[in-house]
Parts: sequence; structure tokens; C-alpha cells
Amino acid sequence: MSEPGEHTRAVHTPAFTQPKQRPLGLPVYRTAAFGFDSAQEYADVLGDRAPGYSYSRIDNPTVDAFAAGVAALEGHRLDAAVVGQAFASGMAAISTVLLTFLEAGGHVVASRELYGGTYSLLHTVLPKYGVDVTWIDVADVEQVRAAFRPTTRVLWVETIANPTLTVADLPALAGVAHEAGAIFCVDSTFASPVVCRPLEHGVDIVVHSATKYLGGHSDATGGVAVGVPSLIDRVRALRVDLGGSLSPDEAFLLHRGLATLPLRVLRANDSALTVASKLEGHPALERVHHPGLSSHRDHGLATRLFDTGRYGGIVTVDLRGGRDAGMAFCDRLRLAELATSLAGTHTVVSHVASTTHRQLDDAALAAAGLSPGAVRISVGLEDADDLVADITQALEPGRRPPPL
Ligand SMILES: Cc1ncc(COP(=O)(O)O)c(C=O)c1O
Repeated sequence: MSEPGEHTRAVHTPAFTQPKQRPLGLPVYRTAAFGFDSAQEYADVLGDRAPGYSYSRIDNPTVDAFAAGVAALEGHRLDAAVVGQAFASGMAAISTVLLTFLEAGGHVVASRELYGGTYSLLHTVLPKYGVDVTWIDVADVEQVRAAFRPTTRVLWVETIANPTLTVADLPALAGVAHEAGAIFCVDSTFASPVVCRPLEHGVDIVVHSATKYLGGHSDATGGVAVGVPSLIDRVRALRVDLGGSLSPDEAFLLHRGLATLPLRVLRANDSALTVASKLEGHPALERVHHPGLSSHRDHGLATRLFDTGRYGGIVTVDLRGGRDAGMAFCDRLRLAELATSLAGTHTVVSHVASTTHRQLDDAALAAAGLSPGAVRISVGLEDADDLVADITQALEPGRRPPPL
């Protein structure tokens, strides 16, 4: 063959060779496709007959490293193998898991207290494809049992519900789901594996919005589902078809977040308990929700299911005075950011009825046990005393807030 031309040489630079030494940082495999040495190898990898990578919507090493990291954290006490699949967002994980186990005519039993996006998926999207949903109160295990039908395929709850912080009795619910032959799926975004590992309590599949604690810096969007290979392999197959796969760049950021996950979650836990304890009884508040408070209905359950002294980093406060009071409180905060999302380095607040749960009308809000004045506070890594001072000044409507 004659000397290749300029364009060919520009495209075919010397091949990348793997260094012998292991990189301490996770390499980002920013490639859409992988090359093969033979047509047979190509066919075998693409046909799932041999391990390997072909196309990054299907699998990518950086993405797999992140999913394996979460699976190791969620499953470290289990004898059974636990594997993970990563997604482009928490909603991609949730929708793919649900669709994996449902078909037209199928039925879901779902908690009334769910993240608004999950509620919307179950309430408006899945019924269009012939899926029926029954909403239940997770605290009423007999009601949950009664909601099951012969066609029930999935029980769906959140470990710590958004934003009421209701804790699900995972072992009791797992018993009910398994008696009925259904898959028990739990969104454990608010807990993170540092607070609770639902697979230890009989749950079949755990999903996370990795955008939250797992990534932890509000700079990457992703989702993940973990469980035993026989279930997660089915989830992977549908992820490949639906295409909600995580990008390697986002996977790098989310994987980096895992290294500091316990440090961040434990600090947020401690500060959240301080904030909740100091706010409880404040005259501007109807109620303070935090599972670490002995006044919380599920305090005993949380103490039983969660690692000692860990109750999560979220506090929800119900302002007296409804929507207007809730929104005015948010406007008066100076340190806490008014923003979507949660579980990052910064303390972030949302007025629930106008933001995360905007899909719920007043009747649905009441049914989910939500007050129109509820404000969710995701406690960040700032000093707890500074947060208490900021929140307390914002609860005093007569006083002019300090300048921004
Ligand atoms: C509990 C919970 N689950 C799922 C999601 C959806 O995750 P994502 O925004 O990454 O799609 C969120 C988002 O706020 C959430 O709070």
C-alpha cells in the first residue's frame, strides 16, 4: 500500500494504548463506538455472547464503573450478587424499570407520596398504555395488601418520601409484594445507601436519582437501578431499546461523587437534625417534618431500618398561612438557594405546591398529606448555625431581610 494521504493520517493517528499502570482517576471513555479485531468478535459482543463494548448507548466502561460503585454500596452486606445499570436521569431509571415489568393490562400499587415526576408517569403516561395504578398509604400495610390484584406486577414506594419524609416499612411491604408475586421497587434517592440499603430489607430493585446525593454537587444528571442480575439484566435490555443511557462524562462526575458520599451525607444528616430540632415549635410553623425528630410519626421505624443515628438530610417545614406564606418565606431566605433539585453541597429550598409537586391539584396534595405552605429544605454542607440563622430570619415576616 502506498503512503496514506494527509487526511487518512489525520484520522488514523497512532492507536491509543492502555498504560500498564492503573489510573487513580476514572478514565472517561468518551467514545460512541468501540473497534474490533475480527468480525466474529464484533458479532459476539453485540450479540451478548462475549463480554465487551460495542456502542456506548449499549454499554460504556466509565458508565459501568459508576453503576458498579452504586451496586457495591447498596449490596455490600448481601450474599447474593448485586449489579447496577446507569441512566441519563432518575426519571429514565424509573420509567425503564417500570416498563420492564409492566405490560398492557398490568397493574401497579404505588405510594400516594411520590416524587411529582414519578406520580405524573404513573398517573398520566402509563394509563395510556393500558397500565392501571392503585394509590396506597404506605403506613397502612393492610390497605397495601388489599390493593393487590392478580395483574399486579410492581409495588413502588420511596424509602423516605418526597417531601413528607414518610418512611416506608420495607420488610413488611416486601412480604406483601412477594406473597402476591410482584416486584418490589423502591426509590431511595432521599436516603442514599449511607442511610439505608433497601435490598437488605427484602426490596428487589432500588433506584436513585443520581443527580442528588450520589453525584452530590448539582453538576451532573443521572439515574441508577440496582438489584440481582436476573432482574437488572432485563432492565438493561429495555434501557438499550429505550435509549436513556448515561453519558460517560456525567458518569465520571457521578462516580467521583461516590468517594465523598458518606462524608457529605453524614454531615447533611447532622445539620438537618440540628435545623429540625431548632425549628420545631417555632410559632410561624405548623409542623416540622424530619424522621430524626421523636415527634415524626415514623421515627421508630426509621430508627429500626436506618443505620444508627442516620435520618437523611432533608427537613420539610409547613408554614402557617398556606401558599403565600410558603412562597414569601422562600423569597426571604438569603443563604439557602431557591432551586430545583436537592442533596448537593448547597442548601436548597423549594415551595412544594408550586414546584416539585405542581402536577398535583389541591385534592391530590391533601391526599398525599401535603400542606400548601410546605417548604422542603435540602440541608447542604454549610455550617448548621448559619442555616438556622438564615431560616429563622426568613420566618419573621415583619422584619426586612438582610440584603442579598
Ligand atoms: C425522589 C426522586 N426521585 C426521582 C427524581 C427524578 O430524578 P431526575 O431529576 O434525575 O430525573 C427526583 C428528582 O427530584 C426525586 O426527588
